Amino acid sequence: MKIELLSKKDAPCVAKIEQECFSTPFKESDILEYLDNPIWHFFVAKEEESVLGYISFIKILDEIQIVNVATSQEYRKIGVGKALISALLDFAKENEATKLFLEVRESNIAAISLYRGFGFYEVGISKNHYKEPTENAILMNLEL
Ligand SMILES: CC(C)(COP(=O)(O)OP(=O)(O)OC[C@H]1O[C@@H](n2cnc3c(N)ncnc32)[C@H](O)[C@@H]1OP(=O)(O)O)[C@@H](O)C(=O)NCCC(=O)NCCS
Repeated sequence: MKIELLSKKDAPCVAKIEQECFSTPFKESDILEYLDNPIWHFFVAKEEESVLGYISFIKILDEIQIVNVATSQEYRKIGVGKALISALLDFAKENEATKLFLEVRESNIAAISLYRGFGFYEVGISKNHYKEPTENAILMNLEL
């Protein structure tokens, strides 16, 4: 498996994973638009030409917000999510970020467990943050 920056040709695969994973997915056109925005970043995990998963994040000054991390259903539980977060942390250190933060659905045990494994910790709850279905968000931070 290799981790690389998302290129435009892989945007349809990322949009497909978005559709598999989220009730309000980014469309391919959203992804292409974000790719042109310098504060947005995407890494993809690939095997040969297949996209196994991806992570998107926003970096402003020394802070990084994880927007989404997702692994295609057929490639889960084999370390793709871990490889993507590791690549993000390497990027953060190389680019002098000192704080990372994110929101996650409170029922999303897999993602919360993934983030905890890298030292993210819970700092609060945002009530009814998500729609479709309505659900609280857990807010998590990590300082480097
Ligand atoms: C969360 C997600 C990205 C994990 O991806 P993955 O590639 O399967 O993760 P990995 O194989 O690298 O597993 C890393 C860790 O995540 C946790 N984890 C992954 N799947 C899990 C599950 N079903 N139940 C509990 N913990 C789980 C474990 O802590 C695991 O570490 P371990 O293998 O040492 O136990 C994946 O389940 C996913 O795409 N979910 C849908 C999208 C989503 O909800 N994204 C998060 C948005 S905030």
